[in-house]
Amino acid sequence: MKILCLSGPNLNMLGLREPGIYGASSLEDIHQSLQDQAAADGMSVDCRQSNHEGELVTWIQQARGNFDAIILNAGAYTHTSIALRDAISAAELPTIEVHLSNIHARETFRHTSMIASVCAGQIAGFGSHSYRLALEACKDLKA
Ligand code: DQA
Repeated sequence: MKILCLSGPNLNMLGLREPGIYGASSLEDIHQSLQDQAAADGMSVDCRQSNHEGELVTWIQQARGNFDAIILNAGAYTHTSIALRDAISAAELPTIEVHLSNIHARETFRHTSMIASVCAGQIAGFGSHSYRLALEACKDLKA
């Protein structure tokens, strides 16, 4: 099973950025941990990050036929991006929405996800473990 893991704007700053909210792990640490977990489970995961909405849209478009599922932390674009929502919908691949923080326990503008309704499910609030839990969810999609 081939997984595409995408992280959106400002997630390249993890470890430095508001560690009280997002934790001490860097995105590189999270990617390494995901790759180790995927290898142990006989899966592969291609991890990418972009601060640009259009680049994320392009990667989601290109995932069709090349990956079996997408793990997506869209960062702040979660709350604003109809373009990402439409890309996920068009990709016809199971997509797991991920957040390190519990977006529902934060500012009200974070309570709305533009992408949730086109995702297979949402995992939020478990820090860096949210990504690992998303990989677990992908395993179940295979069954
Ligand atoms: C986030 C939550 C978003 O509201 C925020 O804009 C982020 C990170 C999270 O992982 O908790 O950049 O997606």
